[in-house]
Amino acid sequence: MILGISGSARKPDVSNTYKLVKIVLENTGCEYELISLRGKDISGCIACLGCVEDNVCKVEDDFREMRDKIVAADAYVIGSPNYYSGLNSMTHAFLERWFQFRHREGNLLWGKIAVAVGVGGTSGKYPANEIEKFFSYNFIQTIAKIFGQGPASCYSCGYGDSCKVGIPYFLYGEGVEISEESKPDVTKQEDVMKSAIEAGKLLGKMVKSGYDRSEITARMQKRMMEMFAGSV
Ligand SMILES: Cc1cc2nc3c(=O)[nH]c(=O)nc-3n(C[C@H](O)[C@H](O)[C@H](O)COP(=O)(O)O)c2cc1C
Repeated sequence: MILGISGSARKPDVSNTYKLVKIVLENTGCEYELISLRGKDISGCIACLGCVEDNVCKVEDDFREMRDKIVAADAYVIGSPNYYSGLNSMTHAFLERWFQFRHREGNLLWGKIAVAVGVGGTSGKYPANEIEKFFSYNFIQTIAKIFGQGPASCYSCGYGDSCKVGIPYFLYGEGVEISEESKPDVTKQEDVMKSAIEAGKLLGKMVKSGYDRSEITARMQKRMMEMFAGSV
């Protein structure tokens, strides 16, 4: 089973993050479950260390019902919208809670594989890179990153054509036109769709043929050690 997570706060039918995560999942040809974090009560890690002995978080919120699914999944597709050139807080809080899986050689997730998805009013690059970083901390290999452009709120707030701190103005300047046609939609971005479909196929192929978790684990461990080398 592949677990898909959309960290968008918007309803699935309007969220470009949800759409893009779904396209990746549909192309895996594997059984999958897609969960939206919208409306879920999930706090960030509170550093209580209650998970140190058994790798089980003791915070009582909606993460609890998701823990077993995360552990059971063969692979992940996680997407976040770009908020302030990073993850939105919902996705950040959700991923912080993966801290519970890491202690004392807790190898529940080590060596698994994943696709990171980011969607922004400009670009989804920042959140996708952040998701990859979170995966690395659990020795999960990101096999593909997908970046899409979604509709910034300025396309529906009513002031997008004149507001000088809005994304449309930043991107196109004076005279920018806000219309249904100019509203970015990942499903209309050919290169994004192509990468999402290819990523889904690759993920599905790797899940079906099996992959060497210990080899990936060793590689990810080395990469993390290289990342921190010389930082103190
Ligand atoms: C609070 C907030 C901050 C945002 N910050 C950025 C940003 O820094 N860069 C960017 O490209 N888009 C930014 N956006 C736009 C969203 O990334 C964009 O609307 C995206 O389509 C949201 O994904 P969704 O459709 O899945 O909800 C921001 C939106 C909100 C609500």
